[in-house]
Amino acid sequence: MSPFVQIELLPLGKVLRVKRGTPLPDALFAQGVEFPCGGRGRCRGCKIKVLAGSLPITAEEKRKLSPAELDAGWRLACRGRAEGDLKIELAQWEAAILTDHSALDFTPQPGWGLAVDLGTTTLVAQLVDRQTGSVLGVRTALNAQAQHGADIMSRIEFALDGSHQGVLEHLTRQQIGALAADLLAERAADARPLESVIVVGNTAMHHLFCGLSLEPLALYPFEPASPGRQQFDAAQLGWDLPGNPPVQFLPCLGGFVGSDILAGLLATRLPQSERLAALIDLGTNGEIVVGNRERLLCASTAAGPAFEGARIAMGMRAATGAIAGVRVQNGRLQCRVLGNAAPRGICGSGLVDAVAAGLSLGWIRPNGRLANGDSLPLAGPVALNQRDVRELQLAKGAIAAGLRILLEQWGATKADLSQVFLAGAFGNYINHASARRIGLLDFPADQVRPAGNSALLGAKLALFDPPGHDHDYAAIRAKIRHVSLNEDERFQEIFAEEMLFPPD
Ligand code: FES
Repeated sequence: MSPFVQIELLPLGKVLRVKRGTPLPDALFAQGVEFPCGGRGRCRGCKIKVLAGSLPITAEEKRKLSPAELDAGWRLACRGRAEGDLKIELAQWEAAILTDHSALDFTPQPGWGLAVDLGTTTLVAQLVDRQTGSVLGVRTALNAQAQHGADIMSRIEFALDGSHQGVLEHLTRQQIGALAADLLAERAADARPLESVIVVGNTAMHHLFCGLSLEPLALYPFEPASPGRQQFDAAQLGWDLPGNPPVQFLPCLGGFVGSDILAGLLATRLPQSERLAALIDLGTNGEIVVGNRERLLCASTAAGPAFEGARIAMGMRAATGAIAGVRVQNGRLQCRVLGNAAPRGICGSGLVDAVAAGLSLGWIRPNGRLANGDSLPLAGPVALNQRDVRELQLAKGAIAAGLRILLEQWGATKADLSQVFLAGAFGNYINHASARRIGLLDFPADQVRPAGNSALLGAKLALFDPPGHDHDYAAIRAKIRHVSLNEDERFQEIFAEEMLFPPD
């Protein structure tokens, strides 16, 4: 028997190799997992879900977790030891999921509605009163499909390899149905009929939820076979919801650009804009839209996971001990560490800041080479290595190249953009000055506007469509053209140029 075991962490996709019998806190603390009661089994704050392998149930867990939670595989990390290989999901990651509480501009409708943003990694559901527009309840969760691959391509691979598509479809439908039932149960005392459920997500999520073949997305030219709006009733999805409400998955825009971006367009009103504007979703799969009320261009680009702190040697989520900000003071680096704790790693916003600061001090050259050896020390044991800088260059190069090509095809330049909306969690937390310094978003600060969870906001707006009418999805789709960046013969050249950092 090997003296070592593996612990796979989702949704990070990180695999740890530890000595058999290692207490889980010892392995997980270094990954940013917090133990609020100091590991005494009293607070439930260290909840993990065992997806593969086994962790015996302890007496504390029987006291702190319900029988349903224990049956579903939930355990307390502070009570466990890695006696064998494990695949686990970290509940603490749920807290970082961006929801939306923006004011809505709506025409009141009867009953309640449910808006769902089905992301590759996370999902958010909000129950909304369609009379008042108020949010009655929110649920966030890690996408249950994540146990079969962290990113879209590995999910597609799993679906097509051995006909597992039904497994992913079932997981997603079941998870959203359970969240819906849970939200309704919470408000059972003042229940109103659920009149509409709107789901948005990228093209792969659209196809997986709707039961459409993923094959076209795995093959050139990577265009969806059935990108349109899909309609169901709850029972068709296996959901036992009162009144059997209609469920719609909004249409995709082309390639991997899905209805999450369509919803973002509804939320930002970009298709009504007189002036040229852009919507950028900074994630592992970066999506970009450029246009105005006349016409719109969209594209998606594989940016890699660096913005999320993944594939970075000391990368971690934005949790206690993460370097989340770096600035230059008197020629030295000053690091802001989350949670008033010793530094243990670096998250996405810290990475962008650290590279921006390194460039300003001349410690990183415009071509990305570290100027003083193969490491850039930040604080305590945390340092960047050459590969970390390269990962960020790949991510920022992909986004900047995509934006440049869309602007060129539109017949415009960056200077013509009146506003740049940043969708998603990372867009919310990134330091704009640093993003500008590394050449990711080369715009004056007042032009860049975090749009929050614009996908969820757009889905909520669609809940207020009166029967028989809808937001003019067809008009938006008629106005938008999907640009396949792979087909642009200059993409590789522009990508290589955009990987460079701007000189001082
Ligand atoms: S850290 Fe509090 S229950 Fe585990």
